[in-house]
Amino acid sequence: LPSHYTLPSGDKIPSVALGVWQAAPGEVGNAVKTALGAGYRHIDGAWIYRNEAEVGQALKESSVPREDLWLTSKLWNNYHAPEDVEPILDDTLSKLGTDYLDLYLIHWPVAFKKEGNNVLDKALTDDPYPTWKKLEEMVDKGKVKNIGISNFNIRRVQNLTANPLKYKPAVNQVELNFWNPQPDLLEWSKENGLLLEAYSPLGSNKQVGETLAVPEVKDIACKLGITPAQVIISWHVQRGTIVLPKSVTASRIVENYDVFEIPQDLFEKLEAAANAHTPQRVVNPSKGWKLPFDVFE
Ligand code: A2P
Repeated sequence: LPSHYTLPSGDKIPSVALGVWQAAPGEVGNAVKTALGAGYRHIDGAWIYRNEAEVGQALKESSVPREDLWLTSKLWNNYHAPEDVEPILDDTLSKLGTDYLDLYLIHWPVAFKKEGNNVLDKALTDDPYPTWKKLEEMVDKGKVKNIGISNFNIRRVQNLTANPLKYKPAVNQVELNFWNPQPDLLEWSKENGLLLEAYSPLGSNKQVGETLAVPEVKDIACKLGITPAQVIISWHVQRGTIVLPKSVTASRIVENYDVFEIPQDLFEKLEAAANAHTPQRVVNPSKGWKLPFDVFE
């Protein structure tokens, strides 16, 4: 299975990353150090995870050369106004202790006013192009190497890419797991040359137990002599996506880094099992944010 994918910039992005969403303070630094020791070079973070300073400290202490690392962060919803992008990016850079990111994503296709509690900025939500242009400027300034999007459905990707973009989105980071495999989005993205990144790939803390107990997963694990988590993580890479498993447990971090090619017949059985039930999303903040629409519709 591919250890890297090549982005439109020519940069090679490692196919397995350590995800640090919900990695608690006091735990995330050790998780990053364990991951780097196990061979990971790709850390997927975000400003809103509120752990970038601890991640940065761990990177510094691990002394892996910066050019060997792949660091992703994300622009939070309150900072979509073009004048707010660079200051909050600078905050991320300073917390991580670096002068550039490898990849910077628009975290959600939802813009809030800078001040206030999730006050919708309708104009910048309906039209993310002004925000995107600012991200393009950050590429030209050398502060980020690649730019992309997250949680965009097909309609929202098309809404953005209908503009005369200088740089196309390099990736779209979305929820992908056994319970929400999104085959249509995956196929459409492949046809349109847009790489997907799978967050909550194991089903997140809410559903990881159920995922690892799926009969097809256990059967493949048994046949290949690998763990159920390795089956799922390998399945993602074999589907052609980047995979971002989160763990703060050393043994699991090590386990999750090893991917294995699944024989085609078994892969197809697992794919069919994933697509056989009504899809269930683990992550949808539309109601929590009191949006007047569902972000995925
Ligand atoms: P923990 O971080 O306590 O080790 P996802 O990547 O889909 O968001 O899932 C993250 C959840 O899955 C966390 O609860 C994490 O627990 C757990 N997890 C991660 N890797 C493994 C593994 N190899 N085996 C079992 N559980 C795992």
